Amino acid sequence: MDYKIYILKVFLFLIYLFFGILNNLYAKDLISGYHFSEPSTQMIQDDEFLNPGFIWVEHGKALWEKKENVSDLSCNSCHGKVSNMKGVAIKFPKVNKSENFINLEQQINICREKEMKARKFEPESKNLLALSVLLYYQSKGLKQNIEINEDNKKWFDIGEELYFKKIGQMGLSCNQCHDDRVGNNLRAEKVSQGHINGFPSYLLRWSKIASVHRRIQFCNEQARAIPFKIFSKEYNALQLYLTWRGKGLEIETPAVRK
Ligand code: HEC
Ligand code: HEC
Repeated sequence: MDYKIYILKVFLFLIYLFFGILNNLYAKDLISGYHFSEPSTQMIQDDEFLNPGFIWVEHGKALWEKKENVSDLSCNSCHGKVSNMKGVAIKFPKVNKSENFINLEQQINICREKEMKARKFEPESKNLLALSVLLYYQSKGLKQNIEINEDNKKWFDIGEELYFKKIGQMGLSCNQCHDDRVGNNLRAEKVSQGHINGFPSYLLRWSKIASVHRRIQFCNEQARAIPFKIFSKEYNALQLYLTWRGKGLEIETPAVRK
């Protein structure tokens, strides 16, 4: 009797070991960029009064209610309270009804132009990023959970390819830093896993909010590679791939980084 229990225990232990090894091989733990930041930076992010990203949230709220001259419409006129937008931002980048592959900032501009008869906001402009931060903030605490399906598969594949592609004078790919050098120091910064669950994020070095596309441009520039344009299909493809790669991480917008 006893030895049967013993064998059962050994057997269970082996199963436990087996899955432990499998887990280590295939499911690298996802770690938010937050955990690679210095404590002083984390403290700024955690405190709503210190976190400068909340100035953008407030500005976004004002814009949400602002009526445009020609149409006399605000975002609120059609979409109602901004809290209705919970869970919306995390569905981007996506292929929309007109079969365009767009991110959230582009959707905002489409609504401005088509629905409100107003001018598009410039890429990286304060107004555009404020609305984007506001909308991602509505999904704070929700997990990234993007679905890859027949609509976006093509873009996902392009994004994956770009993530592993060696580029620039130094021949560096994203994964060489954000998978292979995680935790190493690079110019007084700790290399993180390169997730985007805190975006748009406040960058202390620039005293402003940066979009995902702007952040990737910055990584390209630092690796001496020629960057793509903000709103390019290439960056949307990378953004899609990064969103999928961070599946399960909670939205932290507005995050604060160095
Ligand atoms: C030479 C190394 C290097 C390469 C190559 C590189 N990055 Fe980065 N990246 C960094 C460093 C350093 C930071 C700032 C510290 C951190 O957050 O990892 C950063 C930050 C980021 C962040 C912000 C993470 C956060 O939590 O705020 C994202 C997203 C990102 N990189 C994506 C990319 C993508 C996509 C590529 C490929 C196109 C790329 N990086 C290529 C070094 C690199
Ligand atoms: C006249 C009505 C109207 C106004 C005003 C308007 N929108 Fe829209 N919005 C729409 C419609 C209709 C859709 C769906 C269209 C589509 O799927 O392409 C939409 C879609 C969206 C979506 C995506 C929703 C989803 O579930 O995928 C976002 C985000 C959004 N709008 C943000 C805004 C913002 C921000 C403003 C203000 C700058 C705004 N909209 C102003 C009508 C409007």
